Amino acid sequence: MMDSPVLRFCLLVAMLAAFLQGCTAPEPASGITSLAQAYQGRLRLGAAVEPGQLSTSEGRLLAAQFNSVVAENVMKPSRIQPSENEFNFAPADAIVDFAQQHDMAVRGHTLLWYKRTPDWFWSGKDGQPASRDLVLSRLRQHIETVVGRYKGKIYTWDVVNEVIDPAQSDCLRHDQWLQVVGPDYIDWAFRYAHAADPNARLIINDYSTTLPAKRLCLQRVVQGLLARGVPVHGVGHQMHISIFEPAVAEVDETLVVFARLGLENQITEMDMSLYQRHTYLLPDSVDRLLPVQGQRYEALMKVFLSHPELTAVTWWGISDAHTSRNAGWDWWRSDAPLLFDSQQHPKPAYWGALKAVQGLSPAAK
Ligand code: XIL
Repeated sequence: MMDSPVLRFCLLVAMLAAFLQGCTAPEPASGITSLAQAYQGRLRLGAAVEPGQLSTSEGRLLAAQFNSVVAENVMKPSRIQPSENEFNFAPADAIVDFAQQHDMAVRGHTLLWYKRTPDWFWSGKDGQPASRDLVLSRLRQHIETVVGRYKGKIYTWDVVNEVIDPAQSDCLRHDQWLQVVGPDYIDWAFRYAHAADPNARLIINDYSTTLPAKRLCLQRVVQGLLARGVPVHGVGHQMHISIFEPAVAEVDETLVVFARLGLENQITEMDMSLYQRHTYLLPDSVDRLLPVQGQRYEALMKVFLSHPELTAVTWWGISDAHTSRNAGWDWWRSDAPLLFDSQQHPKPAYWGALKAVQGLSPAAK
């Protein structure tokens, strides 16, 4: 029987499957300190996730190392309401359920983003362009339904995403929202969200907030919102950065600007590329770049900890196995922007982030 060619073939297949599983589904390193626990009482630490990752070893790493979670894609308008009044809640529910099972907070991303507004928003009866009133009533319906469903489960929402454009004199992105509704679409989005969940922290989220022109524009727009009594509670800094830029001091200056306005700061989509902007080759060997990344993560986390109004840091991914830096047009890259490597082991980036908080005296935490 042992010599049966069928049995030998089956054994070979089983060994191959076990080997492949070992390659594709590494176990997260055990026995390392939970970063979220080390930061407990000071900052919420989170990561973006797709529902398919939850049941994998990345899901286990997420639950072990972080205490907050955000949907990388499945809560965006075109995903959660692909057709008018047809909501696709199951993928988003899976993430919220996972968070509840593991006692984690949930960030909501996002209620309005020009890149993920479904086309049906813009067409009215008989294929005519939708009127301002129709678009606003759809926005209200969308926000009421989505925020209402997760009321009490999602503690903070990126209400509007990437609405600032420093190249425009009014500082606003000249997209369909502005063209069809006018600049007050932002006010309405915040008002609808606040009505749907008065306890949720409402955030205006954007990228490159450390660039002086962008920062100034964001400040102008936020001051306008505050002056009109719009319920905006904080600024979300995406923080898709690199090991080269921005300078740590520029990050600090940006946070100070919004802290002075009495607002909360959140870091919402952090990752740190090893590439210099607009270049296609890694500038050095990965072995030499990773410690640089670790030191920079340490310095940045120290700045974040020095800001009492900064409440949360969320990474745009769990480990380098799944990062938007190596996706889409950049599929061919071998970037490594997160805290854990593609085998889900802690990188110098993780040790840097841990060192930043361990250096604090208990009283300062
Ligand atoms: C990205 C996701 O990571 C990708 O999977 C998707 O294809 C496009 O969106 N700023 C944002 C995020 O606010 O929603 C984006 O996420 C990354 C840039």
